[in-house]
Amino acid sequence: MNSVNITRIQVLESLIKDESNQIANLANASAWLNECLDTINWVGFYLIEDNELVLGPFQGKTACVRIAMGKGVCGTAAQEREILRIPDVHEFPGHIACDAASRSEIVIPLIKDGELLGVLDIDSPVCDRFSEDDQQFLEAYAETLVAYL
Ligand code: SME
Repeated sequence: MNSVNITRIQVLESLIKDESNQIANLANASAWLNECLDTINWVGFYLIEDNELVLGPFQGKTACVRIAMGKGVCGTAAQEREILRIPDVHEFPGHIACDAASRSEIVIPLIKDGELLGVLDIDSPVCDRFSEDDQQFLEAYAETLVAYL
């Protein structure tokens, strides 16, 4: 990981390390990512509740509140417990369009001690916005965050 991304993760850690309130930490984690990443139109969290994803803290336009496991990019990433990096959401069967402007998306499952807590979801109006390097950074970002949840 490059030094810019290492610093970004250190800033995340400084934002959340002394706070135990999960909503506060997720809110700042989404706001900080929104400051770090260009050409994105949505960044935030969906959290598991009764085996369903429920909208959590985010930055962006209003979004759908509940996503069933296995549905859309978020529900699929959650069910498979796998990062999904989608270069063109129009090509993803069942993609849920919260904002018609979204063209690419990355979803990172949040897993703590084997338990799925939710997902980090980021949308971009640019096709193929998220690179392999972005994925590595976001994976490390999510890992740091989860350690404090
Ligand atoms: N596009 C997502 C839905 C959530 S919004 O992008 C905020 C999906 O297909 O699961």
